[in-house]
Amino acid sequence: AIVRHYKFNVVMKNATRLCSTKPIVTINGNFPGPTIYAREDDTILVKVVNHVKYNVSIHWHGIKQLRSGWADGPAYITQCPIQPGQVYVYNFTLTGQRGTLWWHAHILWLRATVHGAIVILPKLGVPYPFPRPHMEQVVILSEWWKSDTEVVINEALKSGLAPNVSDAHTINGHPGPTQHCASQEGFKLQVEAGKTYLLRIINAALNEDLFFKIAGHKLIVVEVDASYTKPFKTDTILIAPGQTTNVLVKANHLAGKYMVAASTFMDAPIAIDNVTATATLHYTGSLGSTITTLTSLPPRNATFLANNFTNSLKSLNSPKYPARVPKKVDHSLLFTISLGVNPCATCVNGGRVVAAINNVTFVMPKISLLQAHFFNISGVFTDDFPEKPPRVYDFTGKQPSNLRTNKGTRVYRLAYNSTVQLVLQDTGMIAPENHPIHLHGFNFFVVGKGKGNFNSKKDPKKFNLVDPVERNTVGVPSGGWTAIRFRADNPGVWFMHCHLEVHTTWGLKMAFVVDNGKGPNESLLPPPSDLPKC
Ligand code: C2O
Repeated sequence: AIVRHYKFNVVMKNATRLCSTKPIVTINGNFPGPTIYAREDDTILVKVVNHVKYNVSIHWHGIKQLRSGWADGPAYITQCPIQPGQVYVYNFTLTGQRGTLWWHAHILWLRATVHGAIVILPKLGVPYPFPRPHMEQVVILSEWWKSDTEVVINEALKSGLAPNVSDAHTINGHPGPTQHCASQEGFKLQVEAGKTYLLRIINAALNEDLFFKIAGHKLIVVEVDASYTKPFKTDTILIAPGQTTNVLVKANHLAGKYMVAASTFMDAPIAIDNVTATATLHYTGSLGSTITTLTSLPPRNATFLANNFTNSLKSLNSPKYPARVPKKVDHSLLFTISLGVNPCATCVNGGRVVAAINNVTFVMPKISLLQAHFFNISGVFTDDFPEKPPRVYDFTGKQPSNLRTNKGTRVYRLAYNSTVQLVLQDTGMIAPENHPIHLHGFNFFVVGKGKGNFNSKKDPKKFNLVDPVERNTVGVPSGGWTAIRFRADNPGVWFMHCHLEVHTTWGLKMAFVVDNGKGPNESLLPPPSDLPKC
């Protein structure tokens, strides 16, 4: 294992998409930002220098940060933001991790343009558990707004209503040639006939679940969220914000150009961005302008297709890569995921849309939770997060008379190395919607999922404790539930939130505090000396 150094200059840069130009926040002037390449067990040092007017922080999404929570990145959770003109060096080790992950800004809505890939290869000499691809390619799916995203969210917060949807999706930074600005060249992936390619697909969009497919080509899923899966063949993958998916694609035609598309999955009857991003798979040497297009894109409400895909995901669970699913449970938790409305005199409808877990709308603290925890600073959070919903919901989607939520900076405390079963139940109080829930600091196993209300007697009998998929971000289905299990073997403060940025902003977030264990290797390391101050 070696130490790798990166320098991230946070700088403004003008970018033109959809025939209009705006200044965006970038890393080193690039959108998407630079890829971090490493091998399993390497140590990464990223020096972040803030040259813009915003406070920034960077999160390394899916990196476990074993005992190094100070480098996790969510602002006011594990660190104070890096203020304009300041510098912070993120220092972490990729212990036992390999695969595709990504990094993104974790403050305000800056992650709209501040994001990039993390590619972790296996240790030298260790092969993939699938045929070696001829070449690898990072594919980042994202969204584009013509206006400034900070303005978009601030206007929404002022009005109390939902923010505007994006103007386009992008594939590696470009909406693609089918968009109304014909001059836009889309992303082009060059392939050679007969060869196999590994695509490392990342959904960096703020607010959209996406389907991804390639005309005339099958995708073989081999990894999600940097965990190997049992390989399976599919026409279409579903990928939620925060998730990553590695697929093998065989260039099994002789020549030609084939359309690649990312289109929206949303099964709720609410406003969405319907614009499909496209790119081209281009066989080397193919001339002419004929493109094999996708004759059918999945409809936006293709719930059946979405379920089919997620139900096919299983851990590889081979002797080399066993699935270590916790068999016994120390903490059994039921968290509801819901939207609500709180009174707001200055808002357009006299109310403000909010979101909550167990009816608690999370309020950001003034200093980071991790500092408060480590230095025993009282008055920053309370550790009384409810382990069950505090009131009985009608989970069937009927709107209750009272949509109010409670506010609080409340955390749930876990003993070191205890095991957790967490059922995430969508209540559909305002509208049912798929919520991609992301947990920092851990991978978890997705042991079950279902429609309607979770039944604590019957449903656990059907849990998959053998080869459930292991990941860091999971969709909680509209009007349904998902059950996960993990072992709290990482001391620190770990954020959990919906990866739809609008829901995070509305308060769909909470944190776990994992206490130090007894051994010298079971405690959180002290903070680095350059940790930003609030
Ligand atoms: Cu990818 Cu808390 O974020």
